Amino acid sequence: MENRSTTRLAIVGAGAVGSTLAYAALTRGAARHVSLLDVDRTKVEAEVLDLRHGGMFIPQAEIEGSDDVEVCRGADVVAVTAGAKQKPGQSRLDLAEATIALTRKLIPRLVEVAPDAIFLMVTNPVDVVTYAAQELSGLDHRRVFGSGTVLDSSRLRDALARHVGVAVGNVHANIAGEHGDSEIVLWSSATIGGVPLLDWRPFHGRPALDAAARSAISEDVVTSAYRVIAGKGATNYAVGLAATRIIEAVLNDEHRVMSVSSRLDGFYGISDVCMSVPSLVDSRGVAETIDTPLSDEEVAGLRASAESMRAVQRRFGF
Ligand code: 2OP
Repeated sequence: MENRSTTRLAIVGAGAVGSTLAYAALTRGAARHVSLLDVDRTKVEAEVLDLRHGGMFIPQAEIEGSDDVEVCRGADVVAVTAGAKQKPGQSRLDLAEATIALTRKLIPRLVEVAPDAIFLMVTNPVDVVTYAAQELSGLDHRRVFGSGTVLDSSRLRDALARHVGVAVGNVHANIAGEHGDSEIVLWSSATIGGVPLLDWRPFHGRPALDAAARSAISEDVVTSAYRVIAGKGATNYAVGLAATRIIEAVLNDEHRVMSVSSRLDGFYGISDVCMSVPSLVDSRGVAETIDTPLSDEEVAGLRASAESMRAVQRRFGF
């Protein structure tokens, strides 16, 4: 059934995020071949069966799963979702120890079976995990990057769209920095329907988008994953969609601007840390970071976020 143009996506981890990512990727037809790897063979085999049973309703695809890393052989994209689960009240950084230990074990094996793949790290704390994966893989840093704040930017756009009363696709606004508590909104470069967000005049009867409203939206977005985790134990749908969209940008060589986590090298003086800034995503992975104009406050926020990432990196010897 396969030919040379078959696109292969390997997903590591068949938990809430990995399985939902598989579902999202399959329903969108993101790849022709999707494989799932998980240490729990019973679980991964059940997830694969359940996904296959929907085969007649989705674009044609082969689906397989195993507890053997061989299932990832020859992948074009490897998306890593495996790691410790965030419990209610825990921050993403609280997961670092368990996840870094797993990353040390996994990455060399994955590079062995999929040496030409682009690696998308999704596991939290995603920025530190991305840095570790880059070091452990020995690959060009552009080929190993993290889903970063693509999800947070989607949350922000949703909140803004509902606040001002326009379609979410007309809002261009990004969150940058850590995918976590120190992330910041890039207000100064945001636009709504082509209008700079800071100049936006509310429609009749709509609330203002003044500093107080912006601050409330920002606070709401930064803390929103905690509310989802408290209510249902994990976030899965939005992250599955966000990761799928990133994977499509790679597999289709889309040159899409997304706020993904990559190794910064002199971005506003920030280097040697992985975090999100608007970047160009294509078949090379993160091809470029976009030279985005920032306010002084945003630069200070990004530098503080970088410092908190570096402190965690150092704790693990990276
Ligand atoms: C999220 O933001 C918990 O990082 C995960 O949904």
